[in-house]
Amino acid sequence: MSRARAAVILAAGQGTRMKSDLPKVLHPVGGRPMLDWAIASARGLGAERVIVVTGSHSPQVRAHAASIVGESSVAIQDPPLGTAHAVRAAEQALAGFDGDVVVLYADAPLVKSESLAAMFALREAKGGMAVLGFTAPNPFGYGRLITDAEGRLQRIVEEKDATPEERAINLCNSGVLCADAKALFQLLSMVKNENAKGEYYLTDVVGLGRSAGFFTHIVEGDETEVLGVNSRVELSEAEAAFQRRRRRAAMESGVTLIDPNTVFFSHDTEIANDVVIEPSVYFGPGVKIGKGARIKAFCHIEGAEIGEGAQIGPSARLRPGTKLGAQVKIGNFVEIKNATFGPKAQASHLTYVGDADVGARANLGCGTITCNYDGFDKYRTTIGEDAFIGSDTALVAPVTIGKGAYTGTGSVITKDVPDGALGVGRSRQVNIDGWADKNRAKKQKAKDTK
Ligand code: UD1
Ligand code: MG
Repeated sequence: MSRARAAVILAAGQGTRMKSDLPKVLHPVGGRPMLDWAIASARGLGAERVIVVTGSHSPQVRAHAASIVGESSVAIQDPPLGTAHAVRAAEQALAGFDGDVVVLYADAPLVKSESLAAMFALREAKGGMAVLGFTAPNPFGYGRLITDAEGRLQRIVEEKDATPEERAINLCNSGVLCADAKALFQLLSMVKNENAKGEYYLTDVVGLGRSAGFFTHIVEGDETEVLGVNSRVELSEAEAAFQRRRRRAAMESGVTLIDPNTVFFSHDTEIANDVVIEPSVYFGPGVKIGKGARIKAFCHIEGAEIGEGAQIGPSARLRPGTKLGAQVKIGNFVEIKNATFGPKAQASHLTYVGDADVGARANLGCGTITCNYDGFDKYRTTIGEDAFIGSDTALVAPVTIGKGAYTGTGSVITKDVPDGALGVGRSRQVNIDGWADKNRAKKQKAKDTK
């Protein structure tokens, strides 16, 4: 049976280079804060305790972390004296824990769960500790993994403390480390800050462990998964790496992306196979799409469920709370919010549907508007099955259109329309014979006499 697992997530950095009022680790990648990525990775590994280490300078990070892992699992490191010092700050919160612990950085959101699982597996099989390493064409700035003739890790040396020969090494430290919790805290208590930065380095536990007879095993990942975010430029690089990964996964699971580079996913986008996505489509968080649907070009979709075989767009906007049944058709310049559409219902052009329930097979004509808001409260509109809403109908909610009912084109509907009835709410047309000819003659005469 595998050992109990815990995670310590380091998030005490100031993130000043982001130049943002929002703390760095709360900036999103794939629509989810970076800190949440780290917490999700830890939970994905089956970590029973997840401790977030943050600084006292950031009550926002503290509150955010506490809302996910609980107040007692947030540790404060103040002042920040290095990564070893940060992990030690978690010791109290981990009191009584007996098992393996992994250290993650909150500003490195793309570490793969396969790599973490491999680290735990290696440690369980061979004892000692495990680090996630990677080969960088340009290793500048990273700690280097110093191995012996047999390729066994001896120690980690930081850029600033490295000799020119050590700096020439391309095998780098990601910072992710996995060890037996008790052994790790024992080694951490021995770490000193006698180095170029005057910091307590977590990486020193590798050398200290080696002297005490512990080996540290290396799992090699790739550079994109260890990408750390310190600036907006790096944030965009992490986003790009996430999008590449997600596009590939979508295509591998049977989704057609006509121009993959222009389709943007969120961390939780769920798309069934045989869905076709045309160019320039953006998925915010909370989107689920059923088999065989087609998302046409230029759609913005968030918090929406789309049924099997549905057709959306081009240029449609689906907002949170949208639930569309099978084979629904939503056309160009249609906005939908907090509304359900039964199977085969349609809104093909220039329509706003907010806070509404639309029955199966109902047809909303061009320019239909649900008037759902009076400046204070929101009201619902109900449209029955097989109803036919004439073009340019304003439905003043709360209002119900019965099953199979019609509304006349250009109507302002303020009262319920019974099943099977026609609701007309507009002034009657009057034709004035000869008016246009007379008017034209009058205008021409005035011009001629000038
Ligand atoms: C660290 C590693 C280095 C590795 C690199 C990978 C050490 C000594 N070095 O260097 O080997 O190649 O990451 O990106 O560990 N933090 C705290 N409290 C502190 C200091 C840092 O919580 O007192 C957090 C930061 O917010 C950040 C993480 O720890 O999330 C790493 O700190 P950072 O200063 O970026 O370390 P690097 O110098 O990049
Ligand atoms: Mg760093």
